[in-house]
Amino acid sequence: MIPGEPNSLSLEDLAKPVIKKDNELLIKTIEVGIDGTDLDIIKGVHGEPPPDSKKIILGHEALGKVLDSGASVKKFVKGALVVPTVRRPCNIASCIPCRKNESDMCITGRYLERGIKGLNGFLSEYFVEEEDYLVEIPSSIADVAVLMEPLSICIKTFTIIDKIQKRLSWEAEKTLILGAGPLGILFTLLMKSKGYETVVLSRSSEQSSKAELIRLIGARYYSTISTSSADIKNSEGGFDIIIEATGVYEMVLKSFEYLKKNGIIALTGIYNTSHQIQLNFGKVLLDLVLDNKVVFGAVNSNISHFREAVSETLKNYSRWKGILHKITADKIKLVDFPELVSKKSNFIKKIITFK
Ligand code: BGC
Ligand code: ZN
Repeated sequence: MIPGEPNSLSLEDLAKPVIKKDNELLIKTIEVGIDGTDLDIIKGVHGEPPPDSKKIILGHEALGKVLDSGASVKKFVKGALVVPTVRRPCNIASCIPCRKNESDMCITGRYLERGIKGLNGFLSEYFVEEEDYLVEIPSSIADVAVLMEPLSICIKTFTIIDKIQKRLSWEAEKTLILGAGPLGILFTLLMKSKGYETVVLSRSSEQSSKAELIRLIGARYYSTISTSSADIKNSEGGFDIIIEATGVYEMVLKSFEYLKKNGIIALTGIYNTSHQIQLNFGKVLLDLVLDNKVVFGAVNSNISHFREAVSETLKNYSRWKGILHKITADKIKLVDFPELVSKKSNFIKKIITFK
């Protein structure tokens, strides 16, 4: 794929990568999940190739198996199942977050992301990765481990929400999730298991399989097709927490209407910057101040969020597995990916399998 060049996706034969450093491992890819960021790269609106190339190998949500390791690798044995993190630090001395293994909060913007920004991704039969960027996966959750990357994003977002909420001496009760894509569904699972009353609003119809899945988790579902803002306000009142997982900024603006006093809005979408709208920004700001509201953005995740994603999945596996299996049900072969990628489908998520 050539970033910046729409639909330049191609399948190529590559040499098997080799371990070059003592702390690296050779990994056989098992599955790779495709998300909105990949589709944006394919559309040519996101992404940056590695410095020595015009092309980038896609893929940042992966599960693999250790085949071989360098001399100093201690944490993983051959045959171990692993999930890699996405971002790599900027290595600029003044960047405290990157120095503290929190490159998800990098302050220089010179971080790299595998399969997205300046580094090849995991959408190939084998990949090489350093020990410190891998998380071990217990075999009991291998069937859903390709979801650890998106789940780690939910964990990071929730961790921030929880910290902001702690400024109050009472608990928040009601959450609205905007979007019923894979991330919206994972957020719904997480918020329900944390004990929140959860409502989801998205553009899929109320009869859609996504809506059904949301109801199966025990959350209420509304479709923007059949529900107006007034309807939602009438039937639900307001929300303490709103999590935006659509990338549609009109949804963000609408959601301000549903936010209760002292409420929190978490933004996780990658928004389109080519449209402009007219807005009374003074009013937006005044409402935030007078109502003690907080709006924040969250992107990427670090290894601690991946580890927590694994432990939450282990803890909730028996309750979550039915839903997680539905998200990962649609497996496709790498050879079929270029053709399927632009086709409309009912898939909740495309997972490329190398088995
Ligand atoms: C990935 C993040 C990444 C972001 C922006 C998302 O799809 O999950 O890890 O930081 O895209 O590139
Ligand atoms: Zn940095």
